[in-house]
Amino acid sequence: MSFLERRNNQVKDRPCVVSAPGKLMLLGEHAVVYNRACLVTTVDQRMQVAAKRIEQQFLKLEAKDTGIYAYKKKITRLGKGRIPKGAVFVEFAVYNFFKNYEFYGGIEISTKATFSCRYGFGSSSAAAVCAIAALSELFKVNLSLREIFNLCYKGVVEIQGKASGFDVAAATFGGTLYFVTGGQTIEPIRVEKIPLVVGYTGFKADTATLVKLVAKKALKFPVVFDNIYNQIEKLVQIAREALLKRDWVTLGQLIDLNQGYLEALGVGSEKLARMIYAARTAGAYGAKLSGAGVGDCMIALVSDQKRKVVIKAITEAGGKVIDLKFGVEGVRIERK
Ligand code: PMV
Repeated sequence: MSFLERRNNQVKDRPCVVSAPGKLMLLGEHAVVYNRACLVTTVDQRMQVAAKRIEQQFLKLEAKDTGIYAYKKKITRLGKGRIPKGAVFVEFAVYNFFKNYEFYGGIEISTKATFSCRYGFGSSSAAAVCAIAALSELFKVNLSLREIFNLCYKGVVEIQGKASGFDVAAATFGGTLYFVTGGQTIEPIRVEKIPLVVGYTGFKADTATLVKLVAKKALKFPVVFDNIYNQIEKLVQIAREALLKRDWVTLGQLIDLNQGYLEALGVGSEKLARMIYAARTAGAYGAKLSGAGVGDCMIALVSDQKRKVVIKAITEAGGKVIDLKFGVEGVRIERK
């Protein structure tokens, strides 16, 4: 398409609406930052983005959940200057889109989540994935899921420095994934219903800070940390098989082992430990933290018979149990 054709491409009034799911790390966090594999699933809590093309060359953004009201920036200034935390993921997504495809005009975006951005379900990445998918739809670029992932992951690395991109993959592809750093492998795992209970600690973890903390600790004992990452990758590979066979007993044991390694990396916390031990004592197959650690959520793998007592135990340990479904659909256009 020529520049003129692009310019004359009609600017629509009706916003295009796109949604993408949040995610939950099953096994392999932190190691996945260092070229290892992880297992991630999606949750039935979605980020929704409404986007409209505008004549002016601006990004206009409204993201009330993250405290962004009437944010406005020239397309040529995107990615530069001071960017508020609540806008940065969407801004970089839009920035990379316009850098790749030199379209005339701008975009007006508003985001809304059906979940609290404090849970650590990856609301920022899901919003960025939605923004790219909406831009692709509005400017008729027809990006594949892989291209949406690549563009979005580029932005995440520009923002965070070190990041695996597992959350971007989950929001894009949906389902449950076996994933290797940067999308070297993105393999769907066909598993119907994972019997998990999710407990929220009550406070938000800062992923970038915790990734840096682990990197700093690893400087003193590089071989030890590298071996821990190897062990985590090994158990993720066995867990992949267990998941495919729905062998919950084995998966539970691997979840417990993974928690041990995460404690060794230094990303556990007293609150998480209390909730994890409560779940195990109440009869869960296994329990561990999920994500960066210290705060956010823990997961417990449970049988139907033990579900109620495990929920009660986690609640008594001070956690808030969140009712979720897993392995849901990835990014999708809700309205063209
Ligand atoms: O905090 P979360 O849920 O976004 O998970 C972070 C997982 C890490 O492996 C620590 C970071 C990453 O980019 O994979």
